[in-house]
This record gives sequence, structure tokens and C-alpha cells, in this order.
Amino acid sequence: MDWFIKDFNHPAYFAIYADKAKDAAHEGPALAALLDLPSGSCVLDLPCGWGRLSPHLRQRGLKVIGGDLSPLNLAKHRVGHPVPLVRLDFRALPFREGVADGVFCAFTSWGYFATEAENLRQLEEYARVLRAGGILLLDLAGRDFLQTSLEEAGDGWLDFEEEGYQERVRWSPDGRRILTERLCQGEAFCHDIWIPDDAEVRAFLRQAGFSVAQAYGGLDGRRWDQTSDRWIYRAIKL
Ligand SMILES: C[S@@+](CC[C@H](N)C(=O)[O-])C[C@H]1O[C@@H](n2cnc3c(N)ncnc32)[C@H](O)[C@@H]1O
Repeated sequence: MDWFIKDFNHPAYFAIYADKAKDAAHEGPALAALLDLPSGSCVLDLPCGWGRLSPHLRQRGLKVIGGDLSPLNLAKHRVGHPVPLVRLDFRALPFREGVADGVFCAFTSWGYFATEAENLRQLEEYARVLRAGGILLLDLAGRDFLQTSLEEAGDGWLDFEEEGYQERVRWSPDGRRILTERLCQGEAFCHDIWIPDDAEVRAFLRQAGFSVAQAYGGLDGRRWDQTSDRWIYRAIKL
């Protein structure tokens, strides 16, 4: 089974990422501002997860439709933040061509697939459902920042007692992916995410039919920098 089917569709996910609920209060308004679409625009929140950022998109007058693979996330979203929701896989979006003004892809939600073809396919699907001139906001973890953090933390097991899990983070042997193993609620999980460099992100966006309009290095809209913790690309569908 692909790791992302299990890891995000288990109650342990909500325990491990409990702090992301609080983070939404500053991440949501900031990312919605960087998306920078006029009120009334139709935005696909892909993936929407349990909807923590959705209210902040709607506060800007955007019409939001959420999509995600995890039934558990969608169920929580439905209760907490009711908007139109669709269960979907990035590789085959159930939307018509050109229906959206924006696609909002927050919190390192690209690079999950094992092959480059599938990761490209996700961006191609985003491009397909956007109208010409539509905007993709792609919010990724900065590769160099991750590298430094990992060197500092080491690759042994760490105990997150309060949250109730243990974690070990390592690069894959080829140095292209981050493997995050976790033990929580009696289960073992392993996120396995491709962490591209800036040139790779831009090449994939170009190949999928986007032009990068802005690259930001943080939620405050500072300019992209090699060492930034977030690499946030605002790309225009050509
Ligand atoms: C790190 S979370 C981010 C969710 C949301 N953007 C946020 O900021 O809270 C990643 C999400 O991607 C979803 N996901 C993983 N693989 C997917 C796939 N192949 N197709 C659609 N959604 C997927 C997961 O279910 C999970 O909700």
C-alpha cells in the first residue's frame, strides 16, 4: 500500500500534527494573501486535509472546494469546516478543464509519489483544471533548511512524549527523499517524500504548463532564498 494512504488516514496523524491546528491561525491568512486572488474566485484546496486553512481562504471571499484522498480527513473537514468536498487522487482530478481560478497546495503536499512521472502528473492535473492565467500556490519545505535541521537533530529516534510518538528522520540512500518514521498509537508509519531542489521544482512546473511568477521564502512574503524554511511558488497557468 502506498505510504500516504495509511499515514494520513489514521487517528495518529491528528495527534502527531496537533500543533498544525494552532499554526493555521497565522499560516492560513498568510498563504491566502500569497495566493492573491480576487474575492469571488474559485479555488481548489488540494489537498484540503481536515480543512484547517479553508476558513482563511473563505475569509478573503474565495469560493473554496476541498479535495483529499483521506476519508478520515474529509470527515473531520465536513464537521469542522463545511464546504463542498470531494474524495480524489492528485493523479486524476475529478474536475473539468479550466474550472478553477486557483489551486492551493499547502504544507509540503507534493513529492509523495515514488516516480517522477506521477509527481509531474499531479502538477499537470493542477494545470488542467486551472483556467489560462489561473494561479497555483505550491508551498514546499526548503531543501537546504531541511538538510541543516537534520544535521543538527541527527538521525536517531526522538521521543515526543507530550504528543505521544517517537520519530526518526533520515535521507533516503540517494539523498533525494526524506524518510520520516514514526511510532504512534501502537502503529508504525513512514512518510517518504521527494524533496526537490529549486531547479527541479521550476523544471517540473514549466513542464506541467506553468510559469513561476513569484517565489517566496516565507509566509511573510520575503523573497525566496536557498536557505529559507518554506519555498512557496506562485505559478501562473500558461
Ligand atoms: C500534509 S497534509 C496537508 C493538508 C492541508 N493542505 C494542510 O495544510 O493541512 C497532506 C494531505 O495530502 C493528502 N493526500 C496524500 N496523498 C494524496 C493523493 N494521492 N491524492 C490526494 N490527496 C492526498 C493527505 O490525505 C493529507 O490530507
